Amino acid sequence: MDNTEFLTRQKCLLEQMQPNSICLVPASNLVTRSRDTEYPFRQDSYFQYLCAFPEPEAWLVLSNHQKYSQGLCVLFCLDKDPSMEIWHGRRVGPKHAKQQYPVNMAFALDDLDEQLLDLIDGHQNIYFAQGHNHDADDLVFSLLQALRDAPKQSKQAPSSLIDVRIILDEMRLIKSTNEINMMRQAAAVATQAHIRAMQFVESGKNEYHLEAEIHHEFAMQGAKYPAYGTIVGAGDNACILHYTENNQALKAGDLVLIDAGCEWQGYASDITRTFPVSGTFSTEQKQLYQLVLNAQLAAFDMIKPNNTIKQASDVAIAVITQGLIDLHILKGELADNIEQQTYRKFYMHGLSHWLGLDVHDVGHYKIDGQDRPLKPGMVLTIEPGLYIAPDADVASKWCGIGIRIEDNLLITQTGHENLTIAAPKTISDIEALMLNKSG
Ligand code: GLY
Ligand code: MN
Ligand code: MN
Repeated sequence: MDNTEFLTRQKCLLEQMQPNSICLVPASNLVTRSRDTEYPFRQDSYFQYLCAFPEPEAWLVLSNHQKYSQGLCVLFCLDKDPSMEIWHGRRVGPKHAKQQYPVNMAFALDDLDEQLLDLIDGHQNIYFAQGHNHDADDLVFSLLQALRDAPKQSKQAPSSLIDVRIILDEMRLIKSTNEINMMRQAAAVATQAHIRAMQFVESGKNEYHLEAEIHHEFAMQGAKYPAYGTIVGAGDNACILHYTENNQALKAGDLVLIDAGCEWQGYASDITRTFPVSGTFSTEQKQLYQLVLNAQLAAFDMIKPNNTIKQASDVAIAVITQGLIDLHILKGELADNIEQQTYRKFYMHGLSHWLGLDVHDVGHYKIDGQDRPLKPGMVLTIEPGLYIAPDADVASKWCGIGIRIEDNLLITQTGHENLTIAAPKTISDIEALMLNKSG
């Protein structure tokens, strides 16, 4: 993505801020994994959204004070340091940052406290995501206090602190053409990874072998990181929603559930497929699988502008509940079961979430207490599931079966586009792919 899009986003933020306001956005910091090693660095999503500068320990400062006729965007970043760079990698440094990134000025981080005091001084409001980054909270509150404590009230601290997420979350919810292209790529790579896993699976292998195949495909396609902890749950491990141990043997006769997505330039995909280790579904597996798929397809029909996620969710719940009654897993009338939420024992999570720079992306699901209508440019998941616990109080033939089917949908002007449609999911497509493993 070139700088134009970032400049447009900055302008959009500045225009929505009250007049005479300043906004502070910290980058992520490195997080210790063990002793002197760190987790791989992942830029903060808000920072990434406004400026693609890729390093930790940076700050972005934006102002719409009238003294800056075009608005102001300042970057603070680590200074060049040859000996540190030999050990820890290259730094862009302020001089090159100003040339390469969408900022008016760039300064070394060493000057942050002093320069921020001067920059904030005289603004009426400060926009900041309080509670998002505790180190950043400490710095901002100490700077505000320093402004209030300035001798003879020679400085003016902003009188109000406003949550910048209220603006940024709404902006991030509607994806631009460039963002949609990134998400298409994230979806395409993850789709290939799921196909690879279906072609690779066989009994005697382990869940971690499938995890490795998935991550191999991500990495080979240039998507260096998964967007979240990959879930590979075989047999009744599929009934643990956030199972990530991924260390049990794959057994013929079991299903395996893989929930895996990658990041492409920060944008996430989030796909789940469930398939038989042996390549063929058993009768009971087929019945439950088809039920989840029917629920997903019925929900898809509701995914269009001006409908709500709640409408799609209600349809999925109705299909699943009626199906469970038909299979004698639930008893009684559909309406009573829905009212008493009896399905929640077997389908206990939501149908959907926003998808974007974060896998569970930002954006309110309700406006003024009402479910928000879908709009073109939103991207969301549709992910119904059924999880019959090993000790569930139902006929034993159903026990220990866990199924989820998850796709990523873009809302279009007239309906939706399924970005992950190429990952096989009908029973016949999965069985055919697995029979002919070379694809
Ligand atoms: N992979 C997390 C989720 O499906 O929400
Ligand atoms: Mn999801
Ligand atoms: Mn998922």
